[in-house]
Amino acid sequence: MHKHVDYGPLTTLIGEWRGDQGVDISPEPDGTEHNPYYETIVFSPACDTDNAEEQCLVAVHYRQTVRRKSNDEVFHDQTGYWIWDAAANKMMQSLAIPRGVCILAGSEPLTETSNSFTVSADISNPAYTIVQSPFMQHKAKTTAYSHTLQVHGDRLQYSQSIMLDIYGRVFEHKDENVLQRVTAPASN
Ligand code: HEM
Repeated sequence: MHKHVDYGPLTTLIGEWRGDQGVDISPEPDGTEHNPYYETIVFSPACDTDNAEEQCLVAVHYRQTVRRKSNDEVFHDQTGYWIWDAAANKMMQSLAIPRGVCILAGSEPLTETSNSFTVSADISNPAYTIVQSPFMQHKAKTTAYSHTLQVHGDRLQYSQSIMLDIYGRVFEHKDENVLQRVTAPASN
């Protein structure tokens, strides 16, 4: 049995979402690749956590599965948490992708009526930063990350920008999509 947890502004995310209007812009050695995609994101209640008996966080876990429209193959798989700090009125996102890259991104304080969360990370920031394998550091280094997610009822929209040092140049890797909720909203 799970105890009752107030997920605050994360409550609205809980459920399964699907969207088929995805647009990915990613790097190629000699240019840019545009990939139309569709995806499923499942947000599920995770837990509440106390840090150093002081900071109280609540978190929802998510799993994102992205398929290329041209061949239906999974070409991006991501998991992590959206984490809400009610006292500081701030959001965090922790994420892992199977390229040997992990990110912890943080927000500014949210406005009271906000249904939009923007989190960012940068390799020059010691706290909200990017951890990557030696290979990625050397060959396809992520230097900055920014992600904005907006929810209106059963509609979720996101856009993200990932700065890469790859193939001897700076490349802005971008993704955006609009998703609809396909399960009942969370009841708590
Ligand atoms: C909807 C989300 C995403 C999609 C569809 C996507 C898709 C892609 C594609 C198609 C490539 C080119 C791969 C290749 O040519 O071999 C790529 C490269 C890359 N992506 Fe993403 N990506 C997404 C999100 C992310 C996120 C969140 C990160 C986090 C850092 C990330 C990091 C990278 C890196 C470091 C590369 C360079 C590696 C390479 O091109 O070989 N991507 N991505």
